[in-house]
Amino acid sequence: MAKRKKGEDKDMGKVAIYPGSFDPITYGHIDVVERALEIFDKVIIAIAENEEKRPLFSVEERLQMVKAFFKDTPKVLVDSFKGLLVDYVAKTNAIVILRGLRATSDFEYEFHMASMNRSLNTHLDTLFMMTSKDYFFVSSRTIKEVARLGGGVEGLVPDLVVRRLKEKFKLPVTKKKQIGWDD
Ligand code: PNS
Repeated sequence: MAKRKKGEDKDMGKVAIYPGSFDPITYGHIDVVERALEIFDKVIIAIAENEEKRPLFSVEERLQMVKAFFKDTPKVLVDSFKGLLVDYVAKTNAIVILRGLRATSDFEYEFHMASMNRSLNTHLDTLFMMTSKDYFFVSSRTIKEVARLGGGVEGLVPDLVVRRLKEKFKLPVTKKKQIGWDD
């Protein structure tokens, strides 16, 4: 009997794993997932439980937001993991790690991470997808900063994420101050 290749499970088909902090998920991430679904039968979004990064949202909150967005997309599975990514990947049927690349500034970090993962598991490759032009300036970090300072992030993250960000950064309503030369 022909040996089935890892990642070509008869039930799952070709599976990619998309790891990240997703603190919070943005339309940049979603764009990568949607395009990956043109290539893979399943995408597992794996949310890293890394408290050292001091995330704004707990892993439960991040899981809830991502699951809510993909609730009608059975080809997307949402999970969280602790520890090494390669160990988590080994417990799944994934054949590849998927990552988005926005700009050349992402490259060095991604190159190091992909090289380290490949050194830990020589069979594991990382596939990069260029983020669409509409989202190349969108990152979870800038989304949080803009939201914290009261800027609008509508259209860059799902509506549920907009609401959750507003809840997190609830500021007391202050009277508008008239700025003049005397200030
Ligand atoms: O969205 P991020 O924060 O850029 O994602 C980074 C992530 C979570 C993919 C990376 O930090 C990771 O894989 N963490 C798990 C720990 C691990 O395996 N580290 C070794 C790879 S360098």
